[in-house]
Amino acid sequence: MHQFQGRHIIDTADLTTEEVMFLIETADRIEAMGPAARDLCKGKILATLFWEPSTRTRLSFEAAMYRLGGNVIGFSEAMSSSVSKGETLADTIQTVALYSDIIAMRHPGEGSALAASMSSRVPIINGGDGAHLHPTQTLGDCYTLIMEKGRLKGLKVGFLGDLLFGRTVHTLVRLLARFGVELHFFAPEGLNIPDYVRDSLVKAGATFTEQTELDARLPELDVLYVTRIQKERFFSEEEYLRKKNSYSITRETLEKAKDDILILHPLPRNEEIAMEVDPTPNAGYFRQAEYGLKMRMALISLCLGVLS
Ligand code: CP
Repeated sequence: MHQFQGRHIIDTADLTTEEVMFLIETADRIEAMGPAARDLCKGKILATLFWEPSTRTRLSFEAAMYRLGGNVIGFSEAMSSSVSKGETLADTIQTVALYSDIIAMRHPGEGSALAASMSSRVPIINGGDGAHLHPTQTLGDCYTLIMEKGRLKGLKVGFLGDLLFGRTVHTLVRLLARFGVELHFFAPEGLNIPDYVRDSLVKAGATFTEQTELDARLPELDVLYVTRIQKERFFSEEEYLRKKNSYSITRETLEKAKDDILILHPLPRNEEIAMEVDPTPNAGYFRQAEYGLKMRMALISLCLGVLS
């Protein structure tokens, strides 16, 4: 029996592997319910509090709640809330928890979702805290890998891009390591995975490699997870411009890879995947965004206790 009702979702490290699989099964279960799922959250309110820009995370949380028959309140810019008048995170959360049954939030401060959970009587779901964690993206990505590749154990997954600041990668690799995925990191110089991620992979006994160039290992990979350079986290425009065009996935790249390599990207993308890749069956990134919506439906339903 898994206990999700009333629970905060801050870090996937708080979830057992069985709980992760149960979330994936629940996403499938909701899909199989068809129209019956439309009443699951009737009368419930989701608050989306986004202090940072978002398209997929905020809108898929909101779409998830509407598809479950619930309602949504919230803000997508701090300046449209009383934060602009100096209200603290704790006071904002404590207040919004009076008006809602569950809160999904994104904030630039690392650890902000954990701090918010301490002031909330309703479940807090972390939609991204600075360059730190992005657990709902990770859970959607695991769901994507299982649906597209049929397994996690033994998969060879490459991660290409800004691995220093990319919170999606920081969260995902630590979870995939627990499922026996082989990890290969390809980062421009100076944008390697942070020490705390590397240390936790070593501690977990994960199989991983680090290099700057993709070419030599590309033919082995089952999946390539690409990320953009996280411009908003750079200290200088000059440094960002130096790194900006370090890599690009094109149809030519696909010719050097396995026929069925799956290309994923948490999105938004800039120029790191050419649009010519989009029509190929290898391009999984928009399907990935849809799996993310289904996973968020599962999370909302379980944390509210309307499914168990
Ligand atoms: N993947 C992701 O977090 O996208 P958004 O920033 O648009 O929410």
